[in-house]
Amino acid sequence: MTQRALYRPALQVLESPEAVAAEVAQRILRFVETRARPVLGLATGRTPLAVYARLAAAHRAGTSFAAVESFNLDEYFGLGPAHLGAFACYMQRHFFEQVDMLAGHGHVPSGLGDPALEARAYEATIAEAGGIGLQLLGIGLNGHIGFNEPGSDFDSRTRIVTLDESTRRANAKDFPEGTEVPREAITMGIGTILEAQRIVLVATGEAKSEALHAAFHGPPSRGCPASALQLHPCVELVCDVGAAHRLCL
Ligand code: GLP
Repeated sequence: MTQRALYRPALQVLESPEAVAAEVAQRILRFVETRARPVLGLATGRTPLAVYARLAAAHRAGTSFAAVESFNLDEYFGLGPAHLGAFACYMQRHFFEQVDMLAGHGHVPSGLGDPALEARAYEATIAEAGGIGLQLLGIGLNGHIGFNEPGSDFDSRTRIVTLDESTRRANAKDFPEGTEVPREAITMGIGTILEAQRIVLVATGEAKSEALHAAFHGPPSRGCPASALQLHPCVELVCDVGAAHRLCL
């Protein structure tokens, strides 16, 4: 196996989740305002909600997102875009509807239809857009990125995956009561994520400290998908003191 160079993320630790959201939103806004055709990779989950709220506020204050094209990391398989647990629905409510992005410019993988066809088409659409310039990323408690669970290959591409039971339990809170969390999802692969020019990883709360420690201490390993980020030369890690407390970078 050829030896690959390893990198450390550029770390910024801030006092509170609010300060983290403000900083990450600033970085995204600078990117959007300085590119002619900004292509964003976007994430879901609880952590980026405050970031989207700040981007929406920036839009109300005058920032335009009309030139932006975006690609979300993942979607539950079997859910249509109107399902309350679907990431397409989350993105619509928290971001796309709040800004002036053009119709059809906010891409979320489709959870319906033939997943292999959808996966190939999604990769092709990212390539047609010129690739992702800035990828916003969260991290799962088990170190997953997107829905790449432990064991995922570092060169994996967009595909259908089986969710870990721990992920289904952790995400059950985002589903209406009495609704099952799907067992499968379609996700950008780790290889797809690593092709972004720049990756902004955001984490808040002490519960994420172990996953961050596993990601950045010790050699990259498939046991912790986020450890693949050590192979990327331009990762920015923005977290609060709780999430950072086991880091020594
Ligand atoms: C989900 C998403 C990930 C996200 C992770 C953490 O499973 N697929 O992209 O990073 O959960 O979510 P949270 O921010 O809610 O902890």
